[in-house]
Amino acid sequence: MGLCWGSLSDSPPTTTTPSSTGNISSELRAATRNFKTENVLGEGGFGKVFKGWLEDKTSGKQSNVGTVIAVKKLNAESFQGFEEWQCEVNFLGRVSHPNLVKLLGYCLEGEELLLVYEYMQKGSLENHLFRSTNFLLSESFLYSSKSDDPPIIMPLTWDIRLKIAIGAAKGLAFLHASEKQVIYRDFKASNILLDGSFNAKISDFGLAKLGPSASQSHITTRVMGTQGYAAPEYVATGHLYVKSDVYGFGVVLAEILTSLHALDPTRPSGQHNLTEWIKPHLSERRKLRSIMDPRLEGKYPFKSAFRVAQLALKCLGPEPKDRPSMKEVVESLELIEAANEKPLERRTTKTPPSVRQQQGHYRPQHLSSFRPRHTMARAR
Ligand SMILES: Nc1ncnc2c1ncn2[C@@H]1O[C@H](COP(=O)(O)OP(=O)(O)OP(=O)(O)O)[C@@H](O)[C@H]1O
Ligand SMILES: [Mg+2]
Repeated sequence: MGLCWGSLSDSPPTTTTPSSTGNISSELRAATRNFKTENVLGEGGFGKVFKGWLEDKTSGKQSNVGTVIAVKKLNAESFQGFEEWQCEVNFLGRVSHPNLVKLLGYCLEGEELLLVYEYMQKGSLENHLFRSTNFLLSESFLYSSKSDDPPIIMPLTWDIRLKIAIGAAKGLAFLHASEKQVIYRDFKASNILLDGSFNAKISDFGLAKLGPSASQSHITTRVMGTQGYAAPEYVATGHLYVKSDVYGFGVVLAEILTSLHALDPTRPSGQHNLTEWIKPHLSERRKLRSIMDPRLEGKYPFKSAFRVAQLALKCLGPEPKDRPSMKEVVESLELIEAANEKPLERRTTKTPPSVRQQQGHYRPQHLSSFRPRHTMARAR
């Protein structure tokens, strides 16, 4: 796409020396209309993501008709730090797969750390699973949608949930299968982005790590990631396995089934941590029905849902070695998809109020809340 700045054909940056291409950030500033509030697509723990339009230089078209991009602007005061920014560029800049979001370029200029991605029209899986219809109709979402993307207000159907799970699993399987295995470390619903056809792509490689050498089962590293998704062995010991990612995948599968957040302290006590709470429900047909997302209105093949629940349980195994590989997960999900019977048009399953309550808008906490991630020294 011919980005003249920090395009990924360049060698990834190794220092924070200001770039010589002085108008890089001004190009992105113009693309995002000076990082206008109306262009905000979402906000993570370390900064906002803006929608932008790169001018099509060949046709001389104005911005807002050129290539659509998403620009992540890391906060100067609370950003992930140069190391994570560099990690994103190094990993995502070197790999290419249909289920990994494309990093189109980067910009490092003075205090500005910008990452430029392909625009993912339907936003994140998190928005679809956990935001209420009211949120999706709210101004903030309409801003992000602009007139060219009609707001998405329909709950995800069963088939689309399965499609998303398969896409995300393929992305993770690809990383794990690479010559030097890559451990992604931050698998969660907000990092699964969706294109206009609900193809899932994994984003955010700031925490990715190269896997252990052949003689080792794990690497030992500072505990980072997001509460509710991180594997228990990693949180307890700092031992990070390739299969620690599989645990995170199991948590997301549980979220896909229930539309309940991995961690939500606004739920009644005993239910804050989704997986601890619903594990017994995943293995019992009757109990599973009571935690399935009521917005599915019973329109899903229960057999498939039960098989997905069983798979989630395996992924959530307490020991890394007991969890399936992501390759096996992809195969299982594809078999489930292939065997998808016609959805049963049942009456809406009434879920007991004691099991599900109205969800709040709890924002998941990074593990950095107890292992500071914000305080990482910037390499300056
Ligand atoms: N390429 C993109 N296309 C469209 N929307 C995007 C894109 N990247 C991010 N977003 C939107 O911006 C939101 C914020 O993303 P971001 O990665 O900054 O934070 P997060 O994943 O929610 O949290 P965290 O700080 O833990 O990573 C996403 O949830 C998504 O809605
Ligand atoms: Mg993210």
